[in-house]
Amino acid sequence: MCGIVGHVGPLTPSTASSAPGSGRSLEVLLDGLSRLEYRGYDSAGVALVRPDGVERLTTVKAAGKLDNLRAALDAAAPAPATAGIGHTRWATHGGPTTENAHPHRAGSLAVVHNGIIENFRSLRAEVEAAGRTLLSATDTEVVAHLLDLDFTDRLAAAGEAGTVDPDAAAALLVESMRAVTARLEGTFALLAVTELAPGAIVAARRSSPLVIGLGEGENFLGSDVAAFVAFTTHAAEVDDDQVLLLTADSVTVWDAAGDVVTPRQWEVSWDASAAVKGGYDTFMDKEIHDEPTAVAETLLGRVDDRGELVLDEMRIDPAVLRSIDKIIVVACGTAAYAGHVAKYAIEHWCRIPVEIELAHEFRYRDPIVSEKTLTVAISQSGETMDTIQAVRHAREQGSRALAIVNTYGSTIAREADAVLYTHAGPEVAVASTKAFLAQITACYLLGLYLAQLRGNKWPDEVADYLENLGKMPAKLERLLAEQEDSIRELGAQLADQTSFLFLGRHVGYPVALEGALKLKEVAYVHAEGFAAGELKHGPIALVEDGLPVFVIVPTPRRPVLHDKVISNIQEVRARGARTIVIAEEGDEAVTPFADTVIRIPATPTLMWPLLTVVPLQIFASALAKAKGLDVDQPRNLAKSVTVE
Ligand code: G6P
Repeated sequence: MCGIVGHVGPLTPSTASSAPGSGRSLEVLLDGLSRLEYRGYDSAGVALVRPDGVERLTTVKAAGKLDNLRAALDAAAPAPATAGIGHTRWATHGGPTTENAHPHRAGSLAVVHNGIIENFRSLRAEVEAAGRTLLSATDTEVVAHLLDLDFTDRLAAAGEAGTVDPDAAAALLVESMRAVTARLEGTFALLAVTELAPGAIVAARRSSPLVIGLGEGENFLGSDVAAFVAFTTHAAEVDDDQVLLLTADSVTVWDAAGDVVTPRQWEVSWDASAAVKGGYDTFMDKEIHDEPTAVAETLLGRVDDRGELVLDEMRIDPAVLRSIDKIIVVACGTAAYAGHVAKYAIEHWCRIPVEIELAHEFRYRDPIVSEKTLTVAISQSGETMDTIQAVRHAREQGSRALAIVNTYGSTIAREADAVLYTHAGPEVAVASTKAFLAQITACYLLGLYLAQLRGNKWPDEVADYLENLGKMPAKLERLLAEQEDSIRELGAQLADQTSFLFLGRHVGYPVALEGALKLKEVAYVHAEGFAAGELKHGPIALVEDGLPVFVIVPTPRRPVLHDKVISNIQEVRARGARTIVIAEEGDEAVTPFADTVIRIPATPTLMWPLLTVVPLQIFASALAKAKGLDVDQPRNLAKSVTVE
């Protein structure tokens, strides 16, 4: 977890700076940190370097959310800087205190870090033996000292103290970064600044996200492009074990062997406004309203001139895909429920068995994987460490990995053999909403692609499904327009309830699980999702007078499923439950048994989750708001879980 941002550029003071007189670097850092806050928000800090003055390196940090850092910066009023690094933290080593907040200082330098250094205990003993006193409980401070010890040695070897010029100092810090990171075990994206090279940032990465932003007369680093997208849309990738030197006019990247390499560049298509709330109270609400677009964009450009489906990046031979005999979906949280929905469609269309496995469970048991297994990793961030490890584990055993991710250039996208991007745009609220819909859409595209490739479906059948998918954005628009207000009212009415059940059958089952997860995540309410058929095997014992039970009812055009679920509603109602029924327009069979009905536009069964989950997302947001909770940044959670 954690978000990092770096900026190096001229001293130009900015009129728009939120800390007046503090200059461009601080403006960039604060903007970047506010966009990265979703990556962790239990403390934040910045380090700023300026070319002259007595105290050329200033660090300011504060426990708690970014506003606390802003207040600390107002008090400290740092002078304009030529380079700065910033960090927003989700604690791993050491509690969320100001001491443990980044940046960490040692000698002439300061460091921010995202990741975990696994061998930090032995390294800590080493730096303490070298006479260093550590002020925090973090692994990062150990790295700062290691770096400074090495850097100090190199400076001493290069000349008398104070005689090394800034360019030479920056070059020596690059050497130190390479030497120190070679000794680190674990994951890291590290940025370092030193007062001896006030126009430079030195950085390195291994398995933690880091991207470069290329500006004019200034350059940027960030955990993702959101960190600098307000300032530049030119981005460049950083690979594992590369070391970087950024100055205002140059970006130099060395690979593990020490050779200079040219990083791959791309143009970011997100604009800065896509990463702000767009008039809604919360990012979660904004992102729910982004859902029609997220689905539409994920479907965009998927059919080629010959009418065939195309994926974004395909490095798997079609012959291999024809030969696969099993799909394993690895994912966590909401992404895993998207996979669960997809199982119904892919098995139906392709006649290939699909297993869903939580990535962290998959990794540490002994899964049966072969060259004929296709591992599908689903991840919004593309940086969930559990999912990354699952992909690596599967590939080591000969499986091909196909990634369904939302973040371009993320680790999972880069390591997979094929990529299907969900074009949902940046998702900032910790609780995933639009990414879920985009993931289901992408999984369906994959299912149709495989069905087409393997000859399970005729082209006209594939075209038919695609046409139905193409209708979903308009249906989502209509659902939002017609149902949102009453669902929000219901959320406010039920804000005092302490327990909820969610029931669904077939594709409604993972939707029930996702509905319960949303409520737990943002409203801190006990909620359980069950397969409706399982009710009488235990969960029905939980039903008592007034317990709100959401039931997702399949279309009456599938009577086998529909009628069973109607019976399930009757069973809970007879025991006093307050039933909130999500049913298709015109389905009057539900009316006698429903305390509340939420109506959904008619849709084929397999597409039903794309609509039925939306009321559950809105309900969770409304209930959390009625309780006065922070919907976008729920307690104890982080959006991108980049540690195992
Ligand atoms: C965290 C988030 C969840 C998310 C899960 C998987 O637990 O809080 O909202 O569903 O990670 O994230 P990913 O980026 O891999 O989809």
